[in-house]
Amino acid sequence: MMPNLSSLSRRDFIAKSAIGTGLAIGVPSILRAEDLPKTKDLIRVGFIGCGKQHEVLFNAMVNIPGIQYVAACDIMKERLGRTYGSIYKRFDTKIKRYYEVADMLEKESLDAVFISTPDFWHSPHTIMALEAGCHVYCEKMMSNTLEGARAMVTAMDRTGKLCQIGHQRRSNPRYQYVLNELLNHHKVCGQIINVNGQWNRALSSSQDIVSKPSILPRAEILKRYGFNSGAENKLNEEQLRHRFLNWRFYTSLSGGPISDLGAHQIDIFNWYLGARPTSVMASGGRSFFKDREHFDNVMCVFDYDTPQGNARAFYQVLTTTSAGGGYYESFMGTDGTIEISEREAYTNIYKESGADSSKWDDLVNRGYLNKEANSVTRTSSDVVASYESAPPDKYTLPGGFNKPPHQPHVENFLESIRGNTKLTCDARHALQSEAPIYWVNAAAESKETIRFTDEHLHT
Ligand SMILES: NC(=O)c1ccc[n+]([C@@H]2O[C@H](COP(=O)([O-])OP(=O)(O)OC[C@H]3O[C@@H](n4cnc5c(N)ncnc54)[C@H](O)[C@@H]3O)[C@@H](O)[C@H]2O)c1
Repeated sequence: MMPNLSSLSRRDFIAKSAIGTGLAIGVPSILRAEDLPKTKDLIRVGFIGCGKQHEVLFNAMVNIPGIQYVAACDIMKERLGRTYGSIYKRFDTKIKRYYEVADMLEKESLDAVFISTPDFWHSPHTIMALEAGCHVYCEKMMSNTLEGARAMVTAMDRTGKLCQIGHQRRSNPRYQYVLNELLNHHKVCGQIINVNGQWNRALSSSQDIVSKPSILPRAEILKRYGFNSGAENKLNEEQLRHRFLNWRFYTSLSGGPISDLGAHQIDIFNWYLGARPTSVMASGGRSFFKDREHFDNVMCVFDYDTPQGNARAFYQVLTTTSAGGGYYESFMGTDGTIEISEREAYTNIYKESGADSSKWDDLVNRGYLNKEANSVTRTSSDVVASYESAPPDKYTLPGGFNKPPHQPHVENFLESIRGNTKLTCDARHALQSEAPIYWVNAAAESKETIRFTDEHLHT
């Protein structure tokens, strides 16, 4: 009997056997305007911020029917032009272009906006858009401050509009399958006691972003849009442009690597454990990039009281070393471990040597898991610890996922606007999960454990 992949459609989660036979399922075909179904309930969309992540979101949207692209706003002419060109080329639609968000919201009748500006603009842009009557999809981290994030929740409640936060793993069928079917329903890991997550990035991927000065906004524009905030001294144009391109390095503009990269994964800790941490301790350093305001490497430990008992989670973000498995979250239990990542290649499942084999065999027979040949074998020459456990058996998921990683989250947003489903990560749920992350830098700075109270975490 096939597993009840309740949250998955067959299209989303395709059997590995099909991949094995070489079926062309990896890359979705690109829809053009004439291919899209004519639907009455087109959602009129605007974009705020047309940088790198905007491109990722747009590429995740091109195969979703029912979107009418109306307008885009960015303070950089060249990026606006690129967005205009991409939409025109693909959909034969000429969008309106704006430099000023308020202007776009006033002049255009939009159902929804997608916000992918730097973190310190998320809260003002989200609140403006909600108050203008738009539903909002806003990128993570909700804000660079807890107050900013809380104000977004209040604005969502006040306006009654939808506000989806860009933690796209929440809508990812693979993540939903692992949580709902494997961890919660079949309890394959037993009691989860430890969690381990990381995002390790090479030095080469952590360099300053540079750009041709001729296409960048002038100093007075960058000051008008707050790129000088938090700077004690007067900044020259070059310094302002550095802040504009590299806003992630500055404490008044972003939360640094722990929030930029850690936000996604610490969100998964909290979502999967069904709990918020009770405390955090952390260590960080400006160990290599000595002139950056944020820590370039951070390690932290969260404590939890979960419905299963107490547990702890270790997270590290490295911007100076990529070795050690890239980025994943690993849920380690008494019967097994599931290491999951947005990248399928980093997803691994292990059964503990003493765990009940019949249960795992049954799941394999019913198609919930695939069993792999053991990857770890011990030879007599490398056995040194007499109490070492037998190597765990290795398993894989029964399916693959053939959409761009952000597409299901955008689909969830659009279908929620149509009233067909509920958001998987609205601003309140996002903040419940994000709130502890805002305290990691403070814990690392003070080198003291922060024990969370409602004051720290309230939403
Ligand atoms: N969900 C994910 O997987 C993911 C991945 C990467 C980035 N992000 C998030 O997306 C957001 C954008 O990141 P990015 O890498 O695209 O940054 P970016 O710097 O490449 O792009 C930001 C864009 O916003 C524009 N902008 C800045 N201030 C503005 C203002 N006041 N009004 C209008 N436009 C303005 C800039 O000109 C730029 O084009 C960030 O919050 C980031 O955390 C999410």
